[in-house]
Amino acid sequence: MTLNTTSKAKMIIDKSFKISEVNPRIYGSFIEQLGRAVYGGIFEPTHATADEDGFRQDVINLVKELNVPIIRYPGGNMVSAYNWEDGVGPKESRPKRLDLAWNSLETNEVGTNEFVSWAKKVDAEVMMAVNLGTRGIDAARNLVEYSNHPGGTYWSDLRKSHGYQDPHNIKVWCLGNEMDGPWQIGMKTAYEYGRLAAETAKAMRLVDPTIELVSCGSSGSGMETFPQWEAETLEHTYEYADYISLHQYYGNRDNDTANYIANTLDMDNFIKTVIATCDYMKAKKRSKKTMNLSFDEWNVWFHSNDQDKQVEPWSVAPPLLEDIYTFEDAILVGSMLNTLLKHSDRVKMACMAQLVNVIAPIMTETGGGIWKQTIFYPYYYTSVYGRGTALHSIVDSPKYDSKDYTDVPYLDQSVVYNEETEELVIFAVNRNLENQLLVDVDIRSFEGYGLVEHVVLENEDPKAINTITNEQVKPHTNSKSYIENGTLTAVLPKLSWNMLRLKKNEEK
Ligand code: AHR
Repeated sequence: MTLNTTSKAKMIIDKSFKISEVNPRIYGSFIEQLGRAVYGGIFEPTHATADEDGFRQDVINLVKELNVPIIRYPGGNMVSAYNWEDGVGPKESRPKRLDLAWNSLETNEVGTNEFVSWAKKVDAEVMMAVNLGTRGIDAARNLVEYSNHPGGTYWSDLRKSHGYQDPHNIKVWCLGNEMDGPWQIGMKTAYEYGRLAAETAKAMRLVDPTIELVSCGSSGSGMETFPQWEAETLEHTYEYADYISLHQYYGNRDNDTANYIANTLDMDNFIKTVIATCDYMKAKKRSKKTMNLSFDEWNVWFHSNDQDKQVEPWSVAPPLLEDIYTFEDAILVGSMLNTLLKHSDRVKMACMAQLVNVIAPIMTETGGGIWKQTIFYPYYYTSVYGRGTALHSIVDSPKYDSKDYTDVPYLDQSVVYNEETEELVIFAVNRNLENQLLVDVDIRSFEGYGLVEHVVLENEDPKAINTITNEQVKPHTNSKSYIENGTLTAVLPKLSWNMLRLKKNEEK
């Protein structure tokens, strides 16, 4: 790695340099019937804080704090062999099944209706995935009828008989999950998937024409079939789907922090390539429709890989994918959120994977307390304050080279302007491991704006973690940044995530 000692960067922000309105759905998340996400996570009837439906109130409170607008369910890998009918109706007759995706035992105590009820409690809409691994058109169209049809038909009346009079009106539906992945039960070739997804979409839309559909893209930028998978599947699904999915996880397996936190260059390229492939298909089909992107699984995932191999097979709610996140993971997560915002003209939905216990910002002890992982913080601030219009920024930053990337800017940023609240918010990462970065931001078009707060996430130790008893990584406010003559001088400590929030008529 070449370390550049320059520690100054420049940025220009202008009100009229608009990327797009930020769709709040980019701050979505994901609960899979996996590990302790549901059982011992959101649902634990014997817990001290459990409500009348068995849901943990302490979890509900933290999820609400994150302001998560949409939550994907029930998988993930799990959905590719899932019979949704197992999870509805009287609990005593629900079958226990082998969950082949996660080597666990699924009791089906929680299913579609319970999840919809929980989502209401956290003020989120549901993004429902259908099984296109072992099943297909019939199971999918029946689930739409069960969920969304008002009544007077077999499946909608069955829902009513289960105690849910009103339709759930689930708007967003994923046509399967990661169907390009060899680990998937019922993996498909691009042709097989494209045809099945198109015909399934057609039938689902006949049941409910108001739904929005997500066609499966690649399970990661590193897939051998990427981007041919997108090109071939879209050939069939373009006219039926509204979105194509992207999934991506990163891990610092080589313990090379500078390289690790540069991974958003890959994410950025992934998004650009998917957009290019969608637009090629648009041109090829002479279509008027623009395909949007649903980045419906993204996060860091690697810490728990080895320990997961030791888990007892066929156990109920085993502790799986319980990554304990470090400070440097939070830096990368902050950058990933910046990347989503910078593409908000095409990325209209995204889900941090996942939400509770399983590669999650929120951790619980079964029968015990709750705590925030390091990654909770960039997610929280970006979700709460990153609403409005995403703005382009012109940036001049010193750069470095790492093992996999060249010309990595030390400064990684995104900007959101909320016209309604008259707030301008800058999310900024300093990737420099040694030096603080002084950023001069030209904000002349924001006359009369003052600094409300500069929130900083920093730590001497990139590997610092949080536990239930010791929160080593938490944000604080920094008073070193200031505004003078139309320039905001932001002081970003070495290796840090920052939020600078400005407001009109603020004194500072
Ligand atoms: O989120 C964990 C898993 O990652 C999901 O089940 C799957 O879709 C992806 O491979």
